[in-house]
Amino acid sequence: MKIIKKISTMQSISDELRKNNKIIGFVPTMGALHKAHIAIIRKARKENDIVVVSIFVNPLQFGPKEDYKKYPRPINQDLDICKKENVDFVFYPSVKEMYPYGKSFTYVEVKKFRGILCDKFRPGHFCGVSTVVAKLFNIVKPHKAYFGEKDYQQLKIILRMVKDLNFDIKIIPVPTVREDDGLAYSSRNLYLSLKEREVAGNIYKSLIYCKNLILNRKFKSIKKCIEEAKNYLHKMLSNVEHSIQYFEVYDDNLDVVNNNIDKIPKNTKLRIFAAVYIGTTRLIDNLGFKI
Ligand SMILES: Nc1ncnc2c1ncn2[C@@H]1O[C@H](COP(=O)(O)OP(=O)(O)O)[C@@H](O)[C@H]1O
Ligand SMILES: [Mg+2]
Repeated sequence: MKIIKKISTMQSISDELRKNNKIIGFVPTMGALHKAHIAIIRKARKENDIVVVSIFVNPLQFGPKEDYKKYPRPINQDLDICKKENVDFVFYPSVKEMYPYGKSFTYVEVKKFRGILCDKFRPGHFCGVSTVVAKLFNIVKPHKAYFGEKDYQQLKIILRMVKDLNFDIKIIPVPTVREDDGLAYSSRNLYLSLKEREVAGNIYKSLIYCKNLILNRKFKSIKKCIEEAKNYLHKMLSNVEHSIQYFEVYDDNLDVVNNNIDKIPKNTKLRIFAAVYIGTTRLIDNLGFKI
């Protein structure tokens, strides 16, 4: 396994690999690797000749009051995991290498999927994501790139960016990987206290609860199902400080659906989204299903 810190080095390695007809699979991460990252790396390992993992905590995608400084950076542990998973190259650049001119910069901004869900509460976040991913695509030059469904809005934005800007890269979605109690793996789970961790699985349970209310036509309206699911979640989290930032239902394409459940066409793919603060830790999750 090789650790690459320079953009130009990564680019020439990828050029050489492509000349030799090697298929390059790319897994972008911010490090603090967990079991979901490992599942993604294993999928990439199976489907490509060469696997490149990037580890870069991207300052551009953090708001001024967010956790950029305290985001975990256990680099040695991450490199051990990559080695064990037979990763070929870890691209691990410095902030200076990625942004030599600071914030005066060319940005990539996907205008669709805006103003809703995470974008409503993290202005500029997705612009930071699409910009760094576009850069990483030009640096790593992969044939395929892997993104998790846990960050569903991000996945949709990247798919749209690739389409609109004609990146010759296949985006491969990876289903959400969960702990036994349903909590979606996330590097930010490390922030949870023991007491908070014990109840955090209820976020996923509340998504299932909401899905069942909708599928069983317990109420006529989506809004009422959401309200009941939020009540359920508040009850399940009553032992810890918490707040629900959003709890919403869209279709699979992040378009608004009819509030009247009977008016939603059969076989429509719905998706329930939640962002929840447990203590000071912000966690997101989503669940897709067919009506
Ligand atoms: N529980 C999970 N299931 C599936 N994919 C995930 C999960 N957690 C993270 N990912 C994916 O891993 C990639 C890197 O995400 P990263 O920001 O490093 O991790 P996290 O979101 O856990 O902090 C993203 O494509 C993200 O969607
Ligand atoms: Mg993340």
